Amino acid sequence: MQPILITGISGFIGGRLWNKLSSYQNVYGTYHLHDVVPLHSERQFCIDLNNSDEIQTLILKLKPRCIIHLAAIAGIKDCQQHVKLAWQINSNATLKIAQTAEAVGSRLIFISTDCVFNGKSRSYREGDLVDPLSIYGQTKVSAEKNIFTNCSDAVVVRINNTYGRPVFGGSSFSEWIIERQVKGEPITVFTDQYRSFLDVITLANALVELIDHPFKGLLHIGGANRLNRLTFAEILLNHLGRDTTGIVKMKNSELDPDGMNPLDTSFDITLARKTLKTNFPRIHDAVQLAYPHNTV
Ligand SMILES: NC(=O)c1ccc[n+]([C@@H]2O[C@H](COP(=O)([O-])OP(=O)(O)OC[C@H]3O[C@@H](n4cnc5c(N)ncnc54)[C@H](OP(=O)(O)O)[C@@H]3O)[C@@H](O)[C@H]2O)c1
Repeated sequence: MQPILITGISGFIGGRLWNKLSSYQNVYGTYHLHDVVPLHSERQFCIDLNNSDEIQTLILKLKPRCIIHLAAIAGIKDCQQHVKLAWQINSNATLKIAQTAEAVGSRLIFISTDCVFNGKSRSYREGDLVDPLSIYGQTKVSAEKNIFTNCSDAVVVRINNTYGRPVFGGSSFSEWIIERQVKGEPITVFTDQYRSFLDVITLANALVELIDHPFKGLLHIGGANRLNRLTFAEILLNHLGRDTTGIVKMKNSELDPDGMNPLDTSFDITLARKTLKTNFPRIHDAVQLAYPHNTV
């Protein structure tokens, strides 16, 4: 069986996927600055997407049957601060990956973001118009085009805000909340930012299912509930039996005067539900999946 290649295994989502898949002999992963992943280091490669030739050479060598491309400059702030790098890593390197995947006949699963939308609507479907407010969103829109123009067996999975425990590297909104609560620091959360918060276990299940799935095209994967950040924080802390009095409510405009964070990027996940066998649990069950021990 031809191999599977996962880019970005040192990150939050990639680490979870590596934890799930790396016991299979033919699964390979890439990291860049953080070689934090102890499992099966013999099948890991240090790749800098700033030099797209490195990933091209690796794909030509491995000829994977499927590439799951997660590596990215993955935050709004980071992309605003490193604009040139963000375009190179998120868009240009993705173009090279798409072209090389096509050349060797790989299926390509690319992870995009809810930040492709302006957040003025809600419950976004795959056919809705994109209108990114940030460089991050723009680079991902460009990458999506690069994928579909250059790779014939491709899935672009737009994911919503993903939470849970990191296995190796990276972090998540839920971990930020827990960390602040434990330290007794204020937990400032927006009351007017709505997301389809997605637990990382369900996401990993869906990505694994897509590897050998016939689906091609665009797919929205998010949690089953549309929640604002405040409600999510309360549900999480209640689940963990932690005090919620440190929560400070704020409007998005108070911390984001330039309006780069879309207000409501909740997803309609009807297509994902129709396409995949993966179960998309409602929020309380999903939080239980992500934090099964009810403790921090
Ligand atoms: N987490 C979310 O809520 C969320 C929501 C929407 C979309 N996404 C998308 O999902 C994907 C994974 O997100 P994540 O939260 O797991 O991100 P993350 O924790 O920030 O991980 C980013 C990964 O990209 C790698 N990377 C960064 N710069 C690189 C470079 N120059 N060359 C090679 N690799 C590089 C990092 O490697 P090193 O750490 O080793 O340098 C790391 O493995 C991203 O494409 C992101 O845009 C995430």
